[in-house]
Amino acid sequence: MGVIGVGYVGLVTAVCIAHLGHRVVCLDVDEAKVAALEAGRVPIYEPGLEDLMAGAAARLSFTTSYDELCRQARILFIAVDTPPSPSGDADLSRVQAVVREVRRHDGERLLVMKSTVPVGTGDRITAELEAAGHPGLGYVSNPEFLREGAAVDDVLHPDRIVIGAYREADGDEVAALFADIETTVVRTTVPTAEMIKYASNAFLATKISFINEIANVCEAVGADVRAVADGMGLDHRIGPHFLQAGIGYGGSCFPKDVQALKQLAGNSGYHFQLLNAVIEVNHLQKRRVVGKLKDRLGALRGRHVALLGLTFKPHTDDMREAASIVLAARLRDEGARVSAYDPMVPPGSRDDLFPGIEIARTALEALDGADAAVLVTEWPELVGLDWAVVRDRMRGRHVIDGRNVLDAARVAAAGLVVTGIGTADQPAGEPVASDDVR
Ligand SMILES: NC(=O)c1ccc[n+]([C@@H]2O[C@H](COP(=O)([O-])OP(=O)(O)OC[C@H]3O[C@@H](n4cnc5c(N)ncnc54)[C@H](O)[C@@H]3O)[C@@H](O)[C@H]2O)c1
Repeated sequence: MGVIGVGYVGLVTAVCIAHLGHRVVCLDVDEAKVAALEAGRVPIYEPGLEDLMAGAAARLSFTTSYDELCRQARILFIAVDTPPSPSGDADLSRVQAVVREVRRHDGERLLVMKSTVPVGTGDRITAELEAAGHPGLGYVSNPEFLREGAAVDDVLHPDRIVIGAYREADGDEVAALFADIETTVVRTTVPTAEMIKYASNAFLATKISFINEIANVCEAVGADVRAVADGMGLDHRIGPHFLQAGIGYGGSCFPKDVQALKQLAGNSGYHFQLLNAVIEVNHLQKRRVVGKLKDRLGALRGRHVALLGLTFKPHTDDMREAASIVLAARLRDEGARVSAYDPMVPPGSRDDLFPGIEIARTALEALDGADAAVLVTEWPELVGLDWAVVRDRMRGRHVIDGRNVLDAARVAAAGLVVTGIGTADQPAGEPVASDDVR
């Protein structure tokens, strides 16, 4: 087996398939990444991946050479990135580059598309291969649903495996690779498999924007969105997941996939009205935090705001489309002094994303003398801070809980004022000494 593109999806897929007992050759164009992997180093942070890779090392090899890949592997998983293009469509240039490279090699092979690609991509690639006189290449769509931060578990214990194929036998071959995984296998056509991926991500993003709008209305009418979400989630038709109000979704998938589906619909002559609202609500949600800070501090010029957490969610080092990027830039534009801490972002490492922002070595260092703090990413280390110590380090008293995860009563007992999303402010209680707060 081969895996082309060993990023968050490709590497986890390769390691998990090797763990299941298959031999896997991994190819990437990033020479530094391949060198690190050859030396046994995992270039991304994904819980559990390093151990699983060490255990399966004998069945894994890494290369930058398509000759070597094609000599050794017949089933080729494609897991290259498909970022947004300026038009909002998915940029398929990397997928096309892979197909061009594989085409140069004779022999029967099966391309298995794990990258998220617009509906119609499989049809287009197979038509191009046939036109170029390369009938030896089969094509299967096998979209990936893993979540960064829980990727290993998601690949080994998925909710479902979707396999879209043109030829039954090709689909059977991919299904056989995952035979040891107990789950529902959805066998369908290639376009339907492609659409299942986009529709799933767009629906999850819709749930987030929906609960965020409910949260905003809760603030206006005095209801508590956390209790509302609990009450809604008990309804089996709704379910409890993705009803956590906060400062909006980010990451490498939701923003680009929602945009790409909207664009795909538009290109096909359909105006996908609902997705426009989902996208707009998500943009505005990040900015509402700035409004909350202004309500509490007045003008932000010269004020010191500490951002707790920068990655787009906890348990990953992925910064793509993180809410922190927008937030930091807005605060800086308002004239605030911004400090920040994230367990995955060392000082000086991301000046490209956070120009003018002081990245601290510890949370307390970032909080030193701050007028307000914003919990941006719910890393356990940040949720579990000793808030009495935080109070002593800060100049002001305001904590904005951007993820609605803090135990507001506990934080308030330390003498801080907690503002959530869609909840009433928790006023500061009697300040207590640091070691009285557990
Ligand atoms: N990250 C996620 O949580 C997630 C979840 C489900 C689906 N997906 C989809 O999976 C795909 C990959 O996402 P990712 O987050 O793993 O991306 P990534 O950026 O982490 O990894 C992509 C890798 O492909 C390599 N690459 C680029 N062009 C190449 C080429 N021509 N030949 C060989 N290698 C090449 C890059 O060097 C990189 O290592 C995307 O389509 C994404 O939408 C991602």
